Amino acid sequence: MEWIKIFQTDILDGDDFIKRIEASGRTFCAVKTQGEIFVIQNKCPHAGADLSLGWCKNGNIVCPYHRHEFDLNTGRGLLGQGNYVHTYPTEVREDGIYLGLKESWWKFW
Ligand code: FES
Repeated sequence: MEWIKIFQTDILDGDDFIKRIEASGRTFCAVKTQGEIFVIQNKCPHAGADLSLGWCKNGNIVCPYHRHEFDLNTGRGLLGQGNYVHTYPTEVREDGIYLGLKESWWKFW
């Protein structure tokens, strides 16, 4: 697992947010809600909307295009929508908040 620092820890003291972030050449959606940081894929699996333009509702992120909702913990869409978003581990350390990415095999070539 490759851990990439995405925020300073003081961001936990601020307001909730939904942000588009870049890490390791990829785009993600970072969400702070109820004192926790979640990172999910930024592209909605339904029709490709930018999820960082969505909003939170009851622990889910709501897509701004067609309002499908995805659980921030599991990535699962609400019942009947049939799709999900990838979720990524985060870790709060003394020096920052880190995003965990699996190492890609092509990095070793
Ligand atoms: S593009 Fe996200 S619900 Fe349609």
